[in-house]
Amino acid sequence: MKLSFASASPTAVKSDVLAFFFHQEKGIQNKERSVLAKKLGSRMLLPFDTGDFKGKAGETALVYGDGKTSTRVLLVGLGEQKNLSLEQYRRSAAVAAKRAQKLKAKSLALWFPGPVQHPADVLRAMGEGALLALYRFDKYITKKEDDSNGVETVTICSDLRPVATAASKAVGECQIIAEATMTAMNLANAPGNEIYPETLAEKAQELGKRLGFGVTVLEETELRKLGMGGILGVAQGSVRPPRFIILEYGKSSLKPVVLVGKGVTFDSGGISIKPSANMAEMKMDMSGAAAVLGTFEAVARLKLPVKIVGLIPAVENMPSGSSLRPGDILRHYNGRTSEVDNTDAEGRLILADALGYAEKYKPAAVIDLATLTGACVVALGHHASGMMGNDASLMAQLKAAGEETYERVWELPMFDEYEKLIKSDVADVKNVGGRWAGAITAAWFLKKFTGKYRWAHLDIAGTAMLEEATEYHQRGGSGIGVRLLTEFLRRWK
Ligand code: BES
Ligand code: MN
Ligand code: ZN
Repeated sequence: MKLSFASASPTAVKSDVLAFFFHQEKGIQNKERSVLAKKLGSRMLLPFDTGDFKGKAGETALVYGDGKTSTRVLLVGLGEQKNLSLEQYRRSAAVAAKRAQKLKAKSLALWFPGPVQHPADVLRAMGEGALLALYRFDKYITKKEDDSNGVETVTICSDLRPVATAASKAVGECQIIAEATMTAMNLANAPGNEIYPETLAEKAQELGKRLGFGVTVLEETELRKLGMGGILGVAQGSVRPPRFIILEYGKSSLKPVVLVGKGVTFDSGGISIKPSANMAEMKMDMSGAAAVLGTFEAVARLKLPVKIVGLIPAVENMPSGSSLRPGDILRHYNGRTSEVDNTDAEGRLILADALGYAEKYKPAAVIDLATLTGACVVALGHHASGMMGNDASLMAQLKAAGEETYERVWELPMFDEYEKLIKSDVADVKNVGGRWAGAITAAWFLKKFTGKYRWAHLDIAGTAMLEEATEYHQRGGSGIGVRLLTEFLRRWK
């Protein structure tokens, strides 16, 4: 799918489907009516006139032209202007793209609904919405219902000067960000027999080579030397050996932002095995890692002037004769020990090593992303990632980037009282904290292994994988974190 911009009037645009966007309360204006009349040839009545189309958010109506200027014109609602947000532009463009896909159109044009105050933001939102809506994870389906390639080109067009000016940068940027998001979606959707620690590391190496950032992969002997007891412990039950993937981008003179991503390529729970219903979902337990890789792709292609380091502990959590046992005690990278009360609380065990390792980069900030707890899904559902940390201004920056991209985060408290819940009698800390506040006790566990740096933890258990499609997400991996972190880093100084 290729996104582009055309500085043209809608009457000059040729495409299989041309989408027009309308505000609910404004209805159809004279200018639009005359444009549509030209486009549609002799057509007299419009769906506005009969009340069939009102411009409600996400509403669509398809009208057919005379076949000379255009075949299909799709009217798409933006809803009421007072509710109009970037997210609404994203969704409305997505609705248009999906409809065009259904109509087996090869080319889609979106007539930019301007003038607007911030054309670059609206362009990016529309482009993102359209491109993400067209994503499919179908590479394993050998006999496709629809053998067409789907929509191949999306062209946003406008004859407004400020829009054209903004588009010269915004359109390319949004293509990059959408593709990086799809990289993360592909990784999360890929099954555990395709993506395991070694192949995840290979993907990272391929990406680094192609886009020009550094990738170092540590194997078992090195992990043993470094004392990464959490990673080795979780991995010991699997025939797939662990990997620790280190990514580096940007000028070395800058203090880096370190991004840490949980890379459990499959989480069976280990000896504390999960019930079989929905266990297949746990192929996406490396979504934090996918978000870090996708962000590196976006940042490198956008050439953002930042220094970032990515740390990905990659393991498979399996039950076997060599597995970690409940009651085992592990020694982590920074020397502290943890009691494994439940082998299904494995994410925090591997992140502990990575968060300790982050200290050596003297980071300006550390952000970890992890599909860490079911408790976070209970608390926030699929509409926000849980955020915990030790620095209010860092969290405020993440929150702002989350509003902009609609990958929203919501802070949960880190009151001292919660720390007691993970006290162990036999080690420095225990890996589970009992029934209550599971997302917070998990974060408190991580906090025990952070260094003296500004830190934010994002629990993406509920947002990484969607049970139901939305306007611009399919069921499955959402690519969460790529747009959020890229926006955060764009604003980073
Ligand atoms: N990967 C899971 C968390 C998860 C659950 C992610 C649902 C996405 C959807 C994690 O490793 C896990 O199993 N957590 C346990 C922790 C518990 C044993 C303290 C959980 O949340 O049940
Ligand atoms: Mn688990
Ligand atoms: Zn897990």
